[in-house]
Amino acid sequence: MMVIKRSRTTDLASEVTPEHLYHARRRFIKAGAALSAAALLAACGLRGHDTPQPGAEASVPPDTLTSEQDILNYNNFYEFTTDKAAVADLARGLRTSPWQLEVGGLVRRAGVYEVAELRRAFEQEERIYRLRCVEGWSMVIPWLGFPLRKLIEIAEPLPTAQYVRFDALYDPAQLPGQQRSGYPWPYVEGLRLDEALHDLTLLATGLYGKPLPPQNGAPIRLVVPWKYGFKSIKSIVKIELVAEQPVSFWMATSPREYGFYANVNPDVPHPRWPQRTERRIGEVRRRRTLMFNGYADQVAHLYEGMDLSVDF
Ligand code: MTE
Repeated sequence: MMVIKRSRTTDLASEVTPEHLYHARRRFIKAGAALSAAALLAACGLRGHDTPQPGAEASVPPDTLTSEQDILNYNNFYEFTTDKAAVADLARGLRTSPWQLEVGGLVRRAGVYEVAELRRAFEQEERIYRLRCVEGWSMVIPWLGFPLRKLIEIAEPLPTAQYVRFDALYDPAQLPGQQRSGYPWPYVEGLRLDEALHDLTLLATGLYGKPLPPQNGAPIRLVVPWKYGFKSIKSIVKIELVAEQPVSFWMATSPREYGFYANVNPDVPHPRWPQRTERRIGEVRRRRTLMFNGYADQVAHLYEGMDLSVDF
């Protein structure tokens, strides 16, 4: 039986493992501010896989924050529409509060949490991440959120838990895209448990210093910066620890095109879109796509011994 727990902020806060400050809190960076790659990555507490050496800047152009305007108006959110420019308008009325997030499956302490409480209970960190869509475009987004790990640790996974499954909202009355069949709703995603516990894996509740707008996945979404953007599931209602590898929405839709891992990998071609280069929204020239989206130093060890052209 599912134990329903409507935690008070104090309950949750006292259960949270204190954060070892991997990511220093940092001052908010103004919209459109241009940063050198080194400064940007340092701001994230990260060293990029391809951080340019002095004098070699030409090989990897610097990362610049994508404008708030672009982040808010160029969206993939199939529950509304497949038209990126129309999502913001259609999503405007989405009811995002109250919003309950269920955490269950193979855990000792299942629970149902109000997202507003999670936001108060966990320190909201700013994380500037690259987002690389499998369609060949990319952005740099200043998220607000907390590591998924913190929520999973509270749930206390059982030894049989190997994967994490995420379900997005299913509500055809609010989500016009779900009224037309053809897709296997709800949108589902999955991670291996060690990927889910990685410090880079974020539950985002905001961007550009404000609460997450509906079109970007309000009130809570996943962000896994070394994987293609479709792994970063929006408007999550359920997180389940499971024994078997989940079948994601895109695996079910098109198994030939989408595998479970979906790590950004310029060496694994996609039948419809180029993966060696990408178009950074707001820029004219295409840039080279980096292995693991530039986060190889942090995550490559997770895939040691695997053939990433098979487990793609
Ligand atoms: N989550 C849900 N629930 N539905 C979606 O259609 N699209 C994914 C991902 N998460 C999607 C989703 C894809 S393909 C991408 S590239 C990113 O969201 C886009 O996130 P953004 O619109 O905030 O940039």
